[in-house]
Amino acid sequence: MWTSDGDLLARVDKDKLPRHVAIIMDGNGRWANGRGLLRSAGHVAGVKTLKNILKTAVNLHLEALTVYAFSTENWKRPHTEVDFLMQLFSEYLEREKLEMHQNNVRIKFLGRTEDFAPALQKLMRESVELMKHNTGVKFNVAADYGGQDEIIRAAQKLARRVERGELSPENISITFFEDELDTAGQPPVDLMIRTSGEMRVSNFLLWQAAYAEFWFTDTPWPEFTPEEFVDALVDFGKRNRRFGAVNS
Ligand code: IPE
Ligand code: IPE
Ligand code: MG
Repeated sequence: MWTSDGDLLARVDKDKLPRHVAIIMDGNGRWANGRGLLRSAGHVAGVKTLKNILKTAVNLHLEALTVYAFSTENWKRPHTEVDFLMQLFSEYLEREKLEMHQNNVRIKFLGRTEDFAPALQKLMRESVELMKHNTGVKFNVAADYGGQDEIIRAAQKLARRVERGELSPENISITFFEDELDTAGQPPVDLMIRTSGEMRVSNFLLWQAAYAEFWFTDTPWPEFTPEEFVDALVDFGKRNRRFGAVNS
């Protein structure tokens, strides 16, 4: 089992933890290039970071962790990089799925899946199936994911229900809409972390981050540590979330 974050866990106040943390794992390529390595080496290093962060999320009993692995815009990258990322994604799932399962992780994929290779789609389905009864961290991997695409798919599903006469347009509420999103049944994002210095949302969880707190760091993803993850969580605990209201 993954339990070795002892001192680190002592730093967090359990009552002030976010329920749902989302991470834009950025900076793999720049990190590698800065070391005279290929961008692919940065992605390999990034997978190691992900494993450590997921482990910490498990040890902290976070409710949900969502990571941005591949965006709908990332298909614009050179074929060689896209192919490498797909290969790495497959290897990661194949290698890690059992250990995740043993740690009660429940994996889910956000995004489109139809443009992935059939073997990868199968592996994704098998991983979901393997972990579907687990009750620990909800680990969402956003792959071929775009917030705009997700919202459009949800709107299409609702439109079809209206077309079938099951729903009237006036009854479309926030809850109805959320039930059609890839994150249906999960809490909204409380904390959004982005590594590597960029301060933008890059089409990630546009709906779910409506009231998220943001935390940015210059650290590139391959160098992001459980310690810094806990820094972000501790900082979150100090935020004053008003949700549009005034402090009482
Ligand atoms: C994040 O790192 C990983 C993916 C987008 C798949 P990048 O590949 O974006 O690295 P930089 O931002 O170019 O350094
Ligand atoms: C966002 O990072 C996507 C992922 C981390 C998977 P990008 O590197 O693709 O975002 P931009 O292009 O800098 O906005
Ligand atoms: Mg990037």
